[in-house]
Amino acid sequence: SRIPVVTLDGPGGVGKGTLGRLLAQDMGWHLLDSGAIYRALALAAERAGIQRDDEAGLVRLALDLPLSFRGDGEQTRVLLDHELVDEAIRTPQISALTSQIAAIPEVRTALLQRQRDFIQDPGLVADGRDMGTVVFPKATLKVFLTASAEERGKRRLNQLMEQGISANLASVVAEIAERDARDQQRSVAPLRPAADAHILDTSAQTVVETYRVLQAWVQTAL
Ligand code: C5P
Repeated sequence: SRIPVVTLDGPGGVGKGTLGRLLAQDMGWHLLDSGAIYRALALAAERAGIQRDDEAGLVRLALDLPLSFRGDGEQTRVLLDHELVDEAIRTPQISALTSQIAAIPEVRTALLQRQRDFIQDPGLVADGRDMGTVVFPKATLKVFLTASAEERGKRRLNQLMEQGISANLASVVAEIAERDARDQQRSVAPLRPAADAHILDTSAQTVVETYRVLQAWVQTAL
């Protein structure tokens, strides 16, 4: 029996995290927030003083990263060496460093197995940039989410404010645009829909509306 996997890929602030959490909760499935793994690596590298051009050092760190996830209903908590780092990994500085480190092919390879280990009964929802193209090419259902940069900036700003991180819309939109460009242009695992992905434009839709569409696709795919 094959374990079902639903992949949600797309640019920053598009709502992958929210939709992924809803779906995983409803289905009683595991959730992989792959961005959190890349972010935790960036934070650990910064703390250890490992430079972004030290590929060997980054790969060593990636292979031994003392990272764990603790699910507590609404939110998944990210622990780095037993320390809660949910907020620390989402600052604009770490976001930018993350996408630089994530462009290094060897780093991505080092994190591949850790991500695939999340395939466990009774199912998995995986969100990121290359879930459908690289990490889970045989996924049951692949979804690629899109929304205008303006809309994504607003959503990300709201998220940051909820976490007590202050920022302004223009800088958040600029940060996301810069990160998207880097994620789209990198040579390995660039941000793009898999050939067999369903495209879901969420710009003009509420979370509830988008979620209904996603749910219907999941039911059809199972
Ligand atoms: O999804 P999130 O915004 O947390 O991802 C942070 C960064 O991690 C992305 O901008 C991207 O550079 C990198 N990432 C990636 N591949 C993934 C998930 C995230 O390269 N599957």
